[in-house]
Amino acid sequence: MARVNVGVVGLGVQGLAHVEALSGLHDARIVAVADLDFERAKKVAREYGIPRAYDSAHKLAQDSEVEAVIVATPDYAHLEPVMTALREGKHVLVEKPMATCLEDAEKMAEEAKKRGVLLMVNFENRFNPPFAYVKELLSRGELGVPLHAYIRLSDTIYVPRKMLSWASKTSVAFFLMSHTVDLARWYFDGEVREVYSVSVSRILKDIGTPDAYAAILKFRGGFALLESSWILPETEPSIFDFKLELVCSNGAVYVDTQKESLTLCTAKAHTYPHLAKLYRLHGTPTGFLKEADRHFIECVEGRAEPIIKAEDGVANVRVLEAIVKSCKEGRPIRL
Ligand SMILES: NC(=O)c1ccc[n+]([C@@H]2O[C@H](COP(=O)([O-])OP(=O)(O)OC[C@H]3O[C@@H](n4cnc5c(N)ncnc54)[C@H](O)[C@@H]3O)[C@@H](O)[C@H]2O)c1
Repeated sequence: MARVNVGVVGLGVQGLAHVEALSGLHDARIVAVADLDFERAKKVAREYGIPRAYDSAHKLAQDSEVEAVIVATPDYAHLEPVMTALREGKHVLVEKPMATCLEDAEKMAEEAKKRGVLLMVNFENRFNPPFAYVKELLSRGELGVPLHAYIRLSDTIYVPRKMLSWASKTSVAFFLMSHTVDLARWYFDGEVREVYSVSVSRILKDIGTPDAYAAILKFRGGFALLESSWILPETEPSIFDFKLELVCSNGAVYVDTQKESLTLCTAKAHTYPHLAKLYRLHGTPTGFLKEADRHFIECVEGRAEPIIKAEDGVANVRVLEAIVKSCKEGRPIRL
């Protein structure tokens, strides 16, 4: 069976998750990995039996065997790895947010169009079963039309303080609301017309990034209220809290993924382990990240139509920029 030859750039938390997910896909083969930290790239290559390791995205893009590239560098560092891959004619799946400024996102989308290659953004929650099921219900017309939504995605303070070395170069808006803006656009099936937002900046002031944002997105037929905090206490049983309430003309739907029907109590703490995204089930990687990667590979093979287009990534960044601008200027922003 022909396999798509993939390269992965950026081998931190999310890049490694992609490597793991891809290792469970039959029609994908990782032929190269790259990280600025060359030792890390070599280690990952060794552990997964990947033929080549590089210390730059540019070198990986020049690898003639690579057909498709997954970019999982920090939020602010997507442009160069994506552009260098696109210019070499590779298909690209870039992590969310597509960019931390609209100009970068637009450059990527234009380049992909010019080269006639695929550019997708990893809005992986479109493959997360409860969120995908909500979309299915809407598409079947079972709930009527969406009228208002509340979507909360927050992290404990562990994420900006200890997990990300680059929290000061992004914000909880770009890092987390990229997911919820995407879900809102997907469910309301249209563009955001106006954004009004507020933020608070006290606890993370030393690293120069806001603690939390709340944003109201106005769509043609309704609104979504988004809330994302980066300062939940580390004693929370889960590193994140992710909830949706969607009220429609003919019903309502509620999602809570903080607790995946599992509570683990040890002598030290009680926690909610997260298995839905990626988990080795009897030795084989499974989960919705694998489904997101599978979809990308099937699109590269021409066996599927992209569920997420480059334009979705661009529109997402446009809304995120407006959220930040609305806070700064203390007024609604029309889009
Ligand atoms: N889809 C999701 O739910 C999800 C979850 C976590 C992270 N992410 C996204 O994935 C991306 C990576 O996040 P992370 O948490 O893995 O970060 P990380 O800091 O753990 O890893 C980033 C890696 O990229 C490498 N790197 C940085 N610049 C590079 C460059 N120019 N070329 C090659 N390598 C480079 C670093 O050395 C590091 O190993 C971010 O955009 C983040 O928002 C998405």
